[in-house]
This record gives sequence, C-alpha cells and structure tokens, in this order.
Amino acid sequence: MTRKNAKYAPETIASHAAGYIDETTGAVIAPIHLASTYARDADYELRDNNTYGRYGTPTCHQAETVLAALEGAEQALLFNSGLSAPLAVLETLPLGAHVIAPETMYYAALVWMQRQDAKGILKLSTYRPADLDSLKAVITPQTALVWVETPTNPTWAVTDIAAVAKITKANDALLMVDSTTAPPCTTKPLELGADYVFHSATKYLNGHSDVIAGALCTNAINDRWEDIKSVRILQGTVLPGFPAYLLIRGIRTLYIRWDKACANAMKIAPYFAGHPMIEAVQYPGLPDDPGHAIAKKQMTGGFGGMMSIRVKGDADLAIKVASLTKLFLPATSLGGVESLIEHRYTVEGPDFGTAPNLLRLSIGIEDADDLIHDLEQALTRANS
Ligand SMILES: Cc1ncc(COP(=O)(O)O)c(C=O)c1O
Repeated sequence: MTRKNAKYAPETIASHAAGYIDETTGAVIAPIHLASTYARDADYELRDNNTYGRYGTPTCHQAETVLAALEGAEQALLFNSGLSAPLAVLETLPLGAHVIAPETMYYAALVWMQRQDAKGILKLSTYRPADLDSLKAVITPQTALVWVETPTNPTWAVTDIAAVAKITKANDALLMVDSTTAPPCTTKPLELGADYVFHSATKYLNGHSDVIAGALCTNAINDRWEDIKSVRILQGTVLPGFPAYLLIRGIRTLYIRWDKACANAMKIAPYFAGHPMIEAVQYPGLPDDPGHAIAKKQMTGGFGGMMSIRVKGDADLAIKVASLTKLFLPATSLGGVESLIEHRYTVEGPDFGTAPNLLRLSIGIEDADDLIHDLEQALTRANS
C-alpha cells in the first residue's frame, strides 16, 4: 500500500484496488502469492509477518485491505467460502449460546445452525425477517447473537438493520448481517450498527462465477476478533492466493457491474409484475413490494439484481420455464455478470417454506430487453 484511501470515493478505491503499487517493481496489480511457507530473515524474524499459507498470503491480505476500505471496516478477513465466514463467528460463542436467525434465509446456513442446535452446541430461535415483533418475542438478555440476512434469499424480504441493531444492543447481543445480496455499493451494515457484516464473496463481490470465497468485516478489533482469526487458522479456512487475486480483479468493476444489474432488474421486474403468466414478482425495488420502504432507506445505491417470480402454475411448469430459457442459465448461485434462473424448491425441498412455483432470477449485465425476450419466450413455450 503506497497511497492513502480515505479521501477517495468507494468506486475509486475499488477500481484502484485500494491503491496497490508494488514497492520493488512498480507493478500496479498485486501478485498472486502461491507459496505455502515463508523463510525467516537472517535474524530469524518473520518477514512482514508472513509465516505459513494457512495463516494467509500477501494476496489475501491485499484483498482484505480493499474490502475493509469498501465496508468502512476496521478489518476484513477472507475465507475459503461464504459459509466459513459466519461459522467462524459462531465458533467463538460459548457452548449452548442462544442464536436467533431468520426463518427464511440462505438455507444451508440454517441447516448448519439446526445441526448445531440438535447437538446442543447452540440454541436456535427464528424470527420472521420483516417482522421485528417476532424478533422481540424471542430475544432475551441471554441471547448471544442475532443473524440478519437482507434482502433474504429467495423471497427478498427486507430487514431494517438499524432497528434490529437497537434491539440487539438493548439485549447486549451481537448483530451479524449477511449482506451478500446488498454489497457495500448499496448497504453498509457496520454503519447501521452491526458488529459484523459478511458476504458470500462468491457472488457480487467477485461477480464472475469463478471463485468461492467469504468476507467478514468488523468495526472493532477486540478479543473476539482475534479469536475469529485463530478459528480461521485452526480450521484452515483462509482464502488461498489465486482466488484472492481473482477476487481483487472482480472487485475493481464491482460498482459498474452493480449499477447495470440494478438498472436491468428495474426494467425486468415491472415488466413481469402483472404479466398474465406470472402470479407474483418479489423484488424490493417494486414500489408495492412489502420491503420497498425500508429498502429505499437502507439500499441507497440500488435494489440489486435478485428477484423471484412465481409462475401461474405448479413446480413442473416452473421447472419447464427454467429449462426453456436460452440466455438465463439454469444454474445455482447469484451476483455474476451472466443471468441465472433457478427452481429453488428443487434445491431446498419442502422444509424451508419456498413456494414450488418460485423461480429465482439473478439478473446479470446483459441487455435488459434480451433478458425480457428470453423469459417471455420460455414462459410462452412452457405454457403452450
Ligand atoms: C445469501 C447467501 N449467503 C451465504 C451463502 C454461502 O456462500 P458460499 O456458497 O460462498 O459458501 C450463499 C450462497 O449461495 C448465499 O446466497
């Protein structure tokens, strides 16, 4: 790092990857460090604190610098998957700690907490994401952590982070926000009172469907943060050098990718709302969406590219639509430059409340009209 970032806007910080210039060579791109181990100097001291690949690499640390700057965080840690990041936080809680999570959220994280609950490792309660009274009903001064995911996957309900922060602080609990579908271009949970924000960096942050990564950011460096770092070392969940390099490369264009995905979604969602073959469009950018008012306040840089459409028909019809699109790829994941369509019920099964006629759309950066025509022809052929 040779330049200060604070005076620059986030778009500038992202495009310059936090101002990296290699001191020795002048290279403007951070090199990919693949070494698994690092030689000590003549005084048997570590060089620049590098020791062993499981502790992190200079490439990973540079990506962390970029992310911390974008989130306005004290520090960021990168993990080898989106899921590893929050699980490292949970690992630092005492045995049997009370954790509260949304009843609708990224299902694999919920499955993990249910497993931990069954083993007595934590005690899990749930709340309805858009209903703060349902959170107040289960939180107690003994609660250790509240988990927010907003907008929540795959119904895109919006949770008021600042309001939840007040409730958690009053009960002395930690607040952790999964902001995967609302990257720092639009929401900064730490500024709204969260203790931790994490991302599946696999999604918008990287944006090119070629990295699995997780990012965790904090606004306080304290004993728990040091403990989280130890967990990452002990569990071996650090992000290796090559994906860290790709992540930096992806982040450089985050803001323009985000803006284009938002603009596309704002054309696509109204087009299909009220469409004769569509029962409902769930997208917080729509003025009559139940989450719109809070989203407007909290997603200051756009509503994102994630939406769900519920077809007029059953699961079979929805699957038929997903298999007839030509541009929308029938694949899982989200936040990439290419649009994806997915029948979530096939993935999640009946236990997570996902409607059988729901198709999740991740809107990419293609031409919006091409995407509209693609979905239109798939709906027409599926219904004929
Ligand atoms: C909202 C959300 N959070 C977390 C994750 C987990 O991320 P990863 O697949 O990178 O482990 C996902 C993955 O789809 C997600 O959609």
